[in-house]
Amino acid sequence: MQSIALQITAGALAVLTAGFAWVMYTSGGPLRSEAATHAAYRLRHILFLAALVAGAAIAAATLFPWPHDAHASAITRKIDVKARQWAWELSGQQAAVGDVVEFTLTTSDVSHGFGLYDPDNRLVAQMQVMPGFTNKVRHQFDRPGKYQILCMEYCGLAHHAMVAHIDVAVTGAAASK
Ligand code: CUA
Repeated sequence: MQSIALQITAGALAVLTAGFAWVMYTSGGPLRSEAATHAAYRLRHILFLAALVAGAAIAAATLFPWPHDAHASAITRKIDVKARQWAWELSGQQAAVGDVVEFTLTTSDVSHGFGLYDPDNRLVAQMQVMPGFTNKVRHQFDRPGKYQILCMEYCGLAHHAMVAHIDVAVTGAAASK
């Protein structure tokens, strides 16, 4: 997703740069006629409105599927996670492929960082764990295997030892997904 966004941004910037370069190299010539000037202003007006409409449409289409509430209505399993220096205490360590798990995160001391890694050690979900707050993060498990929970915020001497895991089994209600 990030690489697509980068490519779109780079492409748009290239077009913009070409536009500026074109204006730079074509300006300084003889003055245009009044009719040509009017036509140019009209074109600018149309282009501005088109950009406005396109911008609003793209924002409306891409901003609403906000990831924080993903899967809110599809939770199939809940796991309470209590963080402390320096361990994770989980109310359950089993899940099945297709499960949408809601993790409820609390800490009994300092701030920690909940990081969920898939069997290939790719980060698939993360959330801050803060004193005095109960944070929730949801993840749909789409592959079986051993997932790791690591701490993502330095929280003292044995920060690196805050490791737990969740076993995700093949069998599940929605294993086809
Ligand atoms: Cu807990 Cu770092």
